[in-house]
Amino acid sequence: MSEAKVLVVYFSRTGTTRLLASAIATMLGADIEEICDCSNREGPGGYLRSLLDAIRKRQVEIVPAGLDVSAYDLVVVGSPVWAGSVSAPVRSYLIENRAKFSQIAFFCSFGGRGADKALHEMCELVGKPAVAECKVTAVEARHGAHAALAAFVDGIKRHLARSRDLEWMC
Ligand SMILES: Cc1cc2nc3c(=O)[nH]c(=O)nc-3n(C[C@H](O)[C@H](O)[C@H](O)COP(=O)(O)O)c2cc1C
Repeated sequence: MSEAKVLVVYFSRTGTTRLLASAIATMLGADIEEICDCSNREGPGGYLRSLLDAIRKRQVEIVPAGLDVSAYDLVVVGSPVWAGSVSAPVRSYLIENRAKFSQIAFFCSFGGRGADKALHEMCELVGKPAVAECKVTAVEARHGAHAALAAFVDGIKRHLARSRDLEWMC
């Protein structure tokens, strides 16, 4: 593996996960893509719709991805936690692309509860373990979450270096 190709993909309703995704993409020198869905998620109605989508574990319609996941050595996927679950648009993205992921890492932003469950669900949806995981509260995200993001990115870089070394040995 020469320079690994990394893609950061995320959904964000109110901007917190977007902040984390941009920082991670910059730290990794990765491409970045936002998942857009076809529902109105603004305001109290949008909140309620999002909550119901999460509780019912619905697959929702999303705008087709612009970047081809299979062209990347590793994809980093980020989601807000909704009702102790992955957000509905990220659920749809993971299901639609699950056969195409080579290696995957996950991060989530959350208010204070349910991040471990959401990260576990993300692994289950793609049917493979993540090479690294990261959970950041919305409050931490607003302050940069420097330590958590540095540890996450370091874990990803070490994994990619190990993969490259193994490839050279074969
Ligand atoms: C419908 C809905 C359900 C949520 N459920 C949870 C939850 O179960 N646990 C939690 O800690 N935060 C929960 N949150 C808060 C978000 O996970 C948190 O604010 C997140 O950082 C928002 O990310 P975003 O700005 O990228 O959309 C929920 C938010 C929404 C909109």
